[in-house]
Amino acid sequence: MARTGKRTSASSPELQLELLTWYRTHARDLPWRRTRDPYAIWVSEVMLQQTQVATVIPYFERWMQRFPDVSALARAELDDVLHAWQGLGYYSRARSLREAARVVEREHGGRLPRSVPALCQLPGVGRYTAGAIASIAHGTRAPIVDGNVERVLCRLYGLDGDPKKRPLAAELWRLAEALVPERRARDFNQALMDLGATLCTPKAPACERCPWRGPCVARGSNRQGELPARSARPRTTAVRVAAAVVERGGRWLVKQVPEGAPRWAGLWCFPHADRARAEAAERALGRALGTRVTTSEHLRTYKHSITRFRITLDVYRCSTPARPEGRWLTPAQLLALAMPAVHRRIAETLTSAPRARAPARSRP
Ligand code: ADE
Repeated sequence: MARTGKRTSASSPELQLELLTWYRTHARDLPWRRTRDPYAIWVSEVMLQQTQVATVIPYFERWMQRFPDVSALARAELDDVLHAWQGLGYYSRARSLREAARVVEREHGGRLPRSVPALCQLPGVGRYTAGAIASIAHGTRAPIVDGNVERVLCRLYGLDGDPKKRPLAAELWRLAEALVPERRARDFNQALMDLGATLCTPKAPACERCPWRGPCVARGSNRQGELPARSARPRTTAVRVAAAVVERGGRWLVKQVPEGAPRWAGLWCFPHADRARAEAAERALGRALGTRVTTSEHLRTYKHSITRFRITLDVYRCSTPARPEGRWLTPAQLLALAMPAVHRRIAETLTSAPRARAPARSRP
């Protein structure tokens, strides 16, 4: 790995003390910090993987009421789990969480294992999540490296290269391991994350308030704006989708996306189909519904992104000669389903219900 400039001259104990002293007065008050329950910490870490803290807080609080422990989650219907997750995106996280809860219930008597290697055996649990659970719940001396920690360490040590790729990725884990103290690993890891989230931000970091402003190599060489090097962005693919709003006697047609589908598996959607270049909406929707489809009105176009797909979704009011397969539901029933955000918006528009992220559940 290319290293530029000098290394910081500060020792690990000096760095630990500076960061922990800062954390004592600057720790964020977050709901998952008011507990040592490994299950609650695990849930929060999985939610936080692709999502901002402010968005996660209400989801976390609702989740803990609905599924207060491993057993409750292991027993829950997948549909209910997806419903509690709706709006957070990356639904495979919720599926893995439930699957792992079932493994914990079956193989560990409902208690999460304590060690990092044993945690890593659970579905969806990688080195970061395992290190976070072990250090935050049990105070184990385990390192963690997430996007915030990558940025902080690249700047502190003046490291060039792509932090998501070897050799720098491996070097960052080694550095995090060397830094985390034997005692107070819990506070140290969370302090690193808070530093990255609140001061050592991607743009315009607040170096003058940083507890590591002295030893920081990037600051010393005025390279905060350059480090870390940006990862090459994955190529995005444009996808055009048509969705059908079909109504009969005050009920709308929705279908559940089959298991194994690349997007939205297990969630409920208005019938929809990817369109080949210039393919007519009626033709694509005919394929999705297995019958002839006539579009009577273009209701709206939504643009949104899912992972590397940039989706343009055209919604049409449609009629069909046959009664297509699926569930025909009233407005109240529609809104009780687990739907991806964009389909939920269509349902809300149709039913003129106020926007709500995850309303109380009543089974249709
Ligand atoms: N991001 C991920 N995990 C976090 C935690 N425990 N505290 C603050 N931000 C986080």
